[in-house]
Amino acid sequence: MNIPLDLGDRSYEVVLAEGARHELAALIAKSVPKAKVAVIVTSPALRIQPWFDIESGLVQHVVEVPDGESAKNFATLELLCTRLANLELSRHDVIIGVGGGAITDLTGFAAAVYLRGIAVVHIPTTLVGQVDAAIGGKTAINLAAGKNLVGSFHQPIGVLCDFATLTTLPERERRSGLGEVAKCWLLEERRASDLDGTPMNDLVTLSVSLKAAIVATDEREGGARALLNYGHTLGHAIEKLALARDVDELRHGEAVAIGLAFAVRLAYELERVSSEEIANHDDVLSTLGLSGRLPSHFATSALIEAMGHDKKAHHDLAFVLPGSEGFEVVSGISPEVVSQVLERFRGEL
Ligand code: GLY
Repeated sequence: MNIPLDLGDRSYEVVLAEGARHELAALIAKSVPKAKVAVIVTSPALRIQPWFDIESGLVQHVVEVPDGESAKNFATLELLCTRLANLELSRHDVIIGVGGGAITDLTGFAAAVYLRGIAVVHIPTTLVGQVDAAIGGKTAINLAAGKNLVGSFHQPIGVLCDFATLTTLPERERRSGLGEVAKCWLLEERRASDLDGTPMNDLVTLSVSLKAAIVATDEREGGARALLNYGHTLGHAIEKLALARDVDELRHGEAVAIGLAFAVRLAYELERVSSEEIANHDDVLSTLGLSGRLPSHFATSALIEAMGHDKKAHHDLAFVLPGSEGFEVVSGISPEVVSQVLERFRGEL
């Protein structure tokens, strides 16, 4: 299935199919006909996967970067851009990110800044990448001060979501992606009862359709796109604290799942939703095999502090919350109320 992302002269399609990677050469020939060289950016672990038979139809080089968040820093960006320069990649050429959200974020940012911008294609190989990270043109690297603090909007010329790449995905990574799938299901105001038995490929398609529709109306997150951060205020804070402890405790989507369970409880406290909505959120998370419970060692004060520094917070505690009029960004929530709901939430363990 092809889902259009309608952005005027930056429009492109997200291809969702078994074997979507094999559409790369045709996509490049159509969208960047003057390209002569393609650089594929990937990790050593992905390069040896059975599905890594990617053909651009051009003179092709593969550049390896580290796996995961450790790829998203200035040092790796510099190494990557230096390789592009040494390979004499021109402004007419193309770069292709093959990997999870970290690799497509880094590749997208390199494409945005190398020679002031060259064409990029994303081939996301994780569930998080396919349903979220590779779609919508957000690119970034991290600073010690926080995730994704340096980046730009740079739309790809196409995104190829190949379901074949998910067959080799480790379980933890799959679960992480399901956190984003749960977010989309809940943003669509769907019930847990309709989730059971829905094939994974359909869940990916639903999530991509939702994101494409939102990004088409708000490319640079002036309004509706912020709703895609549902569950992320607490989720990002948990991730930040977990990363500071340097343990692989919670992946992005696992932290988002906890953030979703918390957000609906906060919405209930603010009398925006009924208790039935809490039950629906919990059922959606458990149907997808997600825990949605806050581990007790994340201190409330540390979480409040981290949430205040979220780049979406604008120096205030802001959450995307459901309500009778649908979802909206609610800011100015008092830290005392957030603390109380957090304490009660933790007690539900
Ligand atoms: N991950 C949220 C967005 O792309 O806007």
